[in-house]
Amino acid sequence: MLALIQHPEQLAKLQAAPSLIPTAVEEFLRWASPVYHFRRTATRNVELGDKQAKEGDKVFIWYASGNRDEKVFDNPYDFDVTRADNDHVTFGKGSPHLCLGNLLARTEIRIMFEELIPRLSGIRLAGDVPRVRSTFVNGIKKFPVEVGPV
Ligand code: HEM
Repeated sequence: MLALIQHPEQLAKLQAAPSLIPTAVEEFLRWASPVYHFRRTATRNVELGDKQAKEGDKVFIWYASGNRDEKVFDNPYDFDVTRADNDHVTFGKGSPHLCLGNLLARTEIRIMFEELIPRLSGIRLAGDVPRVRSTFVNGIKKFPVEVGPV
């Protein structure tokens, strides 16, 4: 929602065409990267890219960084609710630990915005948006807004 307030032209696209919301949900997830990283333990020696990890090493997977990978995403720093083939890593990727709740999370986010966006005639920030001090989750402590109903 914060990204939509900060990019009103993107919110306008969704209000004009709510059928875009399922596509937009994937961009919300890429853009927000609600979980910044997980740490795993290498079970064997491995080379990843040009880096070596030895068995027992702790390895950090920065989903937030992967979601801005310019080799994967065109203009990764653009928030684009029409972005197609959005191959983000918000729920992990290629690991046996892929988020078990990803379908539930996607469904909740889709339904919330499908219900909210057509009813919004306007939404504005009404104060600062302080973040949770964390390297783990991209959390928001307070999100004061003013809205106008249709
Ligand atoms: C937007 C919301 C959510 C995000 C961004 C998220 C993200 C993640 C990430 C990044 C992982 C680690 C994946 C990996 O190691 O490769 C994970 C694991 C997990 N998530 Fe989520 N998650 C979300 C919501 C949920 C919900 C709603 C549930 C349950 C109802 C859930 C249950 C789990 C479980 C059980 C694991 C551990 C899977 C395993 O280690 O095998 N998550 N999640």
